[in-house]
Amino acid sequence: MKSKTILTALVLIAGALAAQGAAAKTCAVEINSSDAMRYDKSEIDVAASCTEVKLTLHHTGKLAANIMGHNWVLAKTTDIAGITSDGIKAGAANDYVAPGDARVIAHTKLIGGGQSTTIQFPTKLLSRNGDYSFFCSFPGHSGMMHGKLIFH
Ligand code: CO
Repeated sequence: MKSKTILTALVLIAGALAAQGAAAKTCAVEINSSDAMRYDKSEIDVAASCTEVKLTLHHTGKLAANIMGHNWVLAKTTDIAGITSDGIKAGAANDYVAPGDARVIAHTKLIGGGQSTTIQFPTKLLSRNGDYSFFCSFPGHSGMMHGKLIFH
């Protein structure tokens, strides 16, 4: 009787652990950007246990979006040049991201000083240890504003 109760308890615990392992886990990431055309992070680490990333971009400066606008675009590192050049053609009305650009894994809108923006995206879009970068697609910014996103 007693051992059966213990066994039942163990089965319940194992079931709860299995459910927890399969459950969604949202990992929050914060990054700041400034009037100095900089992000405050050059690398973002995302653990493989995260099923979703909730990313918040802050613009801690004072300049408006049409002068010192920043967004946060995630893509394979090899796609930065193509995405930014098509983004410039798409213009400010599209936050300098070409609509429907399949190379873009995730992106925020373009913000100006004093603003913040949050997006959420699933990590199933990422391969472990793939070469990913985040960058600002405002014309001329990606050279200064870029970093690596490590999913591991
Ligand atoms: Co920018």
